[in-house]
Amino acid sequence: MKKTFYIKTYGCQMNFLDSQLVAGLLTQEGYQPTGDPSRAAVILVNTCAVREHAEQRALGRIRELLRHKRGSPVVKLVVMGCMAQRLGEELFRLAPGVDMVVGPDSYRKLPRLLEGLDHTPISSLALNPKESYSEVAALRGKGISAFVSVMRGCNNFCSFCIVPLVRGRERSRPPEEIVMEVKGLVAQGFKEVTLLGQNVNSYRWGETDFPSLLLMLNGIEGLGRIRFTTSHPKDLSPQLLEVIGGSNRVCEHLHLPLQSGSNRILQRMNRGYTREGYLKLIEDARRGIPNLALTTDLIAGFPGEDDDDFQQTVEVMKEVSFDSSFTFKYSSRPGTKAAGFTDDVPPEVKAERLTALIELQRRITAELNQALVGTTQEVLVEKVGKLPGQLFGRTRTNKPVVSPGEEGLMGHALQLRIIKAKGWTLFGEPSNQATSSRGSTFRNQGRPLPTDNYLVAGP
Ligand code: SAH
Ligand code: SF4
Ligand code: F3S
Repeated sequence: MKKTFYIKTYGCQMNFLDSQLVAGLLTQEGYQPTGDPSRAAVILVNTCAVREHAEQRALGRIRELLRHKRGSPVVKLVVMGCMAQRLGEELFRLAPGVDMVVGPDSYRKLPRLLEGLDHTPISSLALNPKESYSEVAALRGKGISAFVSVMRGCNNFCSFCIVPLVRGRERSRPPEEIVMEVKGLVAQGFKEVTLLGQNVNSYRWGETDFPSLLLMLNGIEGLGRIRFTTSHPKDLSPQLLEVIGGSNRVCEHLHLPLQSGSNRILQRMNRGYTREGYLKLIEDARRGIPNLALTTDLIAGFPGEDDDDFQQTVEVMKEVSFDSSFTFKYSSRPGTKAAGFTDDVPPEVKAERLTALIELQRRITAELNQALVGTTQEVLVEKVGKLPGQLFGRTRTNKPVVSPGEEGLMGHALQLRIIKAKGWTLFGEPSNQATSSRGSTFRNQGRPLPTDNYLVAGP
């Protein structure tokens, strides 16, 4: 019990990776991870602040986990992440019993702060524009696919978004360290990396921009696939499209949040592009990258959004025909510019619009996936499926595929014939045209199909 910890993570992939970083820092100090909060001496909750609902869920869980403290002077509860940064010491009032509140730039201090902790709750909330946890080793365990941070923070200040306020300004990691980390992951058996940043297009270290970083990583022997998220439409460069189109390990997928199809709303959101500009980007991307998969984020019911604005979002969705999308009801976030706008779309209209977007996306996804039935796809096997004898993997375009097969195929890239599509999931079987491959099959220099990865529906 003495030095065990349990982490519950909410939010996006960046939070998921931060939890692995904190786990790495704690294990270095002699702590042991446990999946059971009732056996943990330190319970950590890594929180998200992107929408009110995300905060309510985390708060509920924190209050529930506090019961493990009852009667034990040893057990400590730590709230970390974006909601910790936003609410700070207010959390001691909202969830009495919380011992420590730690913001996203203070994780390095966490083990030391824990050592000194007594009965007085403490906080560490300074943002540090230099902190990128560059050389901190994340505790990832074994796996096929790993997240790798390339930059942190955001300078964009979209009017609805809390992220720049809780994560601070943009900072990139030195490319040599990223390359070294990815090589290390390959040596441990990982086949795929997903490069993370709030806006990966802004990555820059000296002369190295994001397309050059991708080229450096594309040269790593033994690495199967490279994915990245999120890209911001306003600074998606022709060079990046060229690199995606021409690099065998970089998957054909762009997660390109549109947010709204109405220019009036896009401007109020401070997104820095127009509907026409976005559509032109999609056209260029599709021309340069055969079989590109496109996914997006959309917000329903932003302040001032009328029926006509909403219809424009629907039109763009139809025109682009996204492979999938994450759709959210607008949620006012204190301290953002949009919090000063009147939140004038009634809740029932927000809900209706959200349902309409989800329904439209469901139809588009079904149609696109149905069209894949009969094709052969390169599927990287990530884990065993839900049923015995089943495997779960993804196409280069990030679509989930379930197929028959034994555990020994984990980490292999198989050529699978798609026999059925159900919702977002595809079902495959070994293709006899390209013998399914036990060896490392990352020979595929051609472009099988499009993909992406905005894995966690998340926040
Ligand atoms: N950095 C990424 C995404 C950050 S948050 C980007 O720029 O795209 C993920 C998604 O949450 C956003 O794309 C947006 O669609 C949604 N989101 C952010 N703030 C929100 C809010 N206040 N209300 C509803 N959705 C929001
Ligand atoms: Fe938020 Fe906009 Fe930055 Fe994305 S780009 S994190 S939506 S401010
Ligand atoms: Fe933070 Fe990610 Fe949520 S950056 S606010 S955990 S979406």
